[in-house]
Amino acid sequence: MSSHGEARAMVSRKSAGLRGQAEVPGDKSISHRALILGALAVGETRVSGLLEGQDVLDTARAMRAFGAEVEKRGDVWHVTGVGVGGFAEPAQVIDCGNSGTGVRLIMGAMATTPISATFTGDASLNKRPMARITDPLRLFGAHAYGRSGGRLPLVLVGAEQAMPVRYATPVPSAQVKSAVLLAGLNAPGETVVIEREATRDHSERMLAGFGAVISSEDGPEGRVITLQGQPELRPQVIAVPRDPSSAAFPVCAALITEGSDVLVPNIGLNPTRAGLFFTLQEMGADLVFENPREEGGEPVADLRARFSPNLRGIEVPAERAASMIDEYPVLSVVAAFAEGRTHMPGVKELRVKESDRIEAMAVGLRACGVTVEAGEDWWTVEGRGFGAVPGGATVATHLDHRIAMSFLVLGLATEAPVTVDDGGPIATSFPVFEPLMRGLGADLGAADADPAR
Ligand code: S3P
Repeated sequence: MSSHGEARAMVSRKSAGLRGQAEVPGDKSISHRALILGALAVGETRVSGLLEGQDVLDTARAMRAFGAEVEKRGDVWHVTGVGVGGFAEPAQVIDCGNSGTGVRLIMGAMATTPISATFTGDASLNKRPMARITDPLRLFGAHAYGRSGGRLPLVLVGAEQAMPVRYATPVPSAQVKSAVLLAGLNAPGETVVIEREATRDHSERMLAGFGAVISSEDGPEGRVITLQGQPELRPQVIAVPRDPSSAAFPVCAALITEGSDVLVPNIGLNPTRAGLFFTLQEMGADLVFENPREEGGEPVADLRARFSPNLRGIEVPAERAASMIDEYPVLSVVAAFAEGRTHMPGVKELRVKESDRIEAMAVGLRACGVTVEAGEDWWTVEGRGFGAVPGGATVATHLDHRIAMSFLVLGLATEAPVTVDDGGPIATSFPVFEPLMRGLGADLGAADADPAR
């Protein structure tokens, strides 16, 4: 089942070369943050290039429920904020759908305001761990009442008199870091987050842009981020860069599909996000960054990916995991077409994403004739080389958009077609995936569209 309606099986088939430009949508992480910080600023923030995927639309609806005005006029989203500490108590349950980022950041943003709210999500989100968020929020004085293991649905009661917090994140998670920073906005004094491994820093960059006093320093404990509480956030004009995690799909599809040459323009290449592209280059991919520049405080470039028949399996450094955590599923697809083994250590967090991504990919790849070994925090894919991956299976996607897109990419270059049981969740992050890929020449679509084939 998809998060919103019936399951929609999709299939992809061996395709001739992919060609053209892939205009992927706005960055999901930055889109959530633009809406949430816009809602906490005083005055009107304008956002262009916002990802209009279901995850972000759910966050927009939540911001309205907390009292902000959020509306789209023309191509621009206008967010009229209520100020730090100004959230109103929502009258309804806040349903964040499939989005871990949405629910975790919003819980942080309300935890130091004396209101209560009830949060829920779809079957995937309601399985995911929330104690990693509610534990630090309790230190501010908030109370959380969830299901076993702290899972959703959950009631969060914001602190009456918030205290600032110094918190070392126990897992490498930008969502945990961001929830603590957002909670720190309405606590007096300094809130400090320490992370052993640097994770995506969009919250820090955007908080600074909105006028908060925030600094990051690298020391022996890792990265130490210090935020001064109770700032007045000033509204911003934000141009959201395009999402490197969505760019990954047309890029990887081009690398494994014979005769491909695809340009993916305007992609955010924040170093805390770009690990996949360097990994692909190390594997021998014909992938270049054209026209590198800076836009809205984030580095961007145009990515050019061409068919790469001589990919090699590699050891992916564990220290790189945080900068490509969402890209392992599609990396494992590319690895299936490489010569030799790709080893991916240090990726325990993959087990608690929209699905257990190590398990979902291992099961699906094996069904498609690829040898995969996996442990709790590592996995390996035995590459079969170009033109030697059988495919031919139907794969369970577990309400996980990236699992669905990864297997549809796989099927573009396997011997037999690859079917996914439900492409519905793709709309959470990449609503135009199907027309965009078809526009490049990919043979993919609804599984029942042409049963005669
Ligand atoms: C995100 C952080 C990551 C990532 C997710 C988006 C964010 O999750 O997987 O897709 O926007 O902060 P974790 O913080 O759980 O690592």
